[in-house]
Amino acid sequence: MKTAANLISRNATCWCGSGKKYKKCHLLIDQKEVSASAEEPKPKRKDRNIIIKTEEQIDGIRKSCQMTKDLLDMVEERISVGVTTNEIDEWVHLETLARGAVPAPLNYGRGQGRQRMPFPKSICTSLNEVICHGIPNSQALRNGDILNVDVTCNFHGYFGDASRMFVIGEVPDRTRELVEVTRECLNLGIEQVRPNTKLGDIGHAIQEHAENHGFSVVRDFAGHGVGIEFHEAPQILHYGEPGIGEALRENMIFTIEPMINIGDYACKVLGDGWTAVTTDGTLSAQWEHTMLVTSSGVEVLTA
Ligand code: MF3
Ligand code: CO
Ligand code: CO
Repeated sequence: MKTAANLISRNATCWCGSGKKYKKCHLLIDQKEVSASAEEPKPKRKDRNIIIKTEEQIDGIRKSCQMTKDLLDMVEERISVGVTTNEIDEWVHLETLARGAVPAPLNYGRGQGRQRMPFPKSICTSLNEVICHGIPNSQALRNGDILNVDVTCNFHGYFGDASRMFVIGEVPDRTRELVEVTRECLNLGIEQVRPNTKLGDIGHAIQEHAENHGFSVVRDFAGHGVGIEFHEAPQILHYGEPGIGEALRENMIFTIEPMINIGDYACKVLGDGWTAVTTDGTLSAQWEHTMLVTSSGVEVLTA
């Protein structure tokens, strides 16, 4: 999800990834108060727009997340040298429909640039220097590639979102380290999740680990609330200061999805309006889970 941190002006692109102007998209919603249920006290100003899920919603989102996990397991079993990202897209597309769900990325949003093209495929495939939102194509995977496959299911209106890295054949030690450390960053972020933790605690744990290994944390995209919509509040930044920001509450559901680069964190979006790549052309990795804040900690719904 595109971050709102530097995009709060009315004419900027909305933080949600829709590609619309903020004033035509989430501005009004962000100004509205959304309360969880009638019995709950009126939400404080800072609580606006975060959806605290009901038990019924949690059950639905849990099922959608388990389907997302199963689809990634299927990709993991089949992926190898010579497979094209179009083929992976087709596997996931067909299996999602066969299970009575819809691939959430297909026709989602409006990309940047003149075309403002909705996302044209059912999954994102982000190869090597692609940070996120890569579009599947007819190029075959080669020895030495690293690929992120990002799957989001919409099952009976409930969303589950997760992604994994796949290392194709042999890669240099530093490339493998990038993939491993990025996965550790996700796990360290997840370890912070429990009621009353601040969002900054999550971001800080991720940033510290990545930078200790000489890697950089992408700033322009973030994790997000998820479940009732594809992209909900709040943004989950993958960098930050401990003790700063929104406090987590029981029954919040969101993703953590750190994007970590070998080189600089700067990124640019290609002419297709979606594909985000590192400006310096160096490799980028990402892992993502959807999780529920429980009374005592966290349940990783896509595990
Ligand atoms: N699944 C991505 C995420 O983790 C979003 C993809 S939006 C798409 O938030 F349109 F590119 F599919
Ligand atoms: Co996500
Ligand atoms: Co995703």
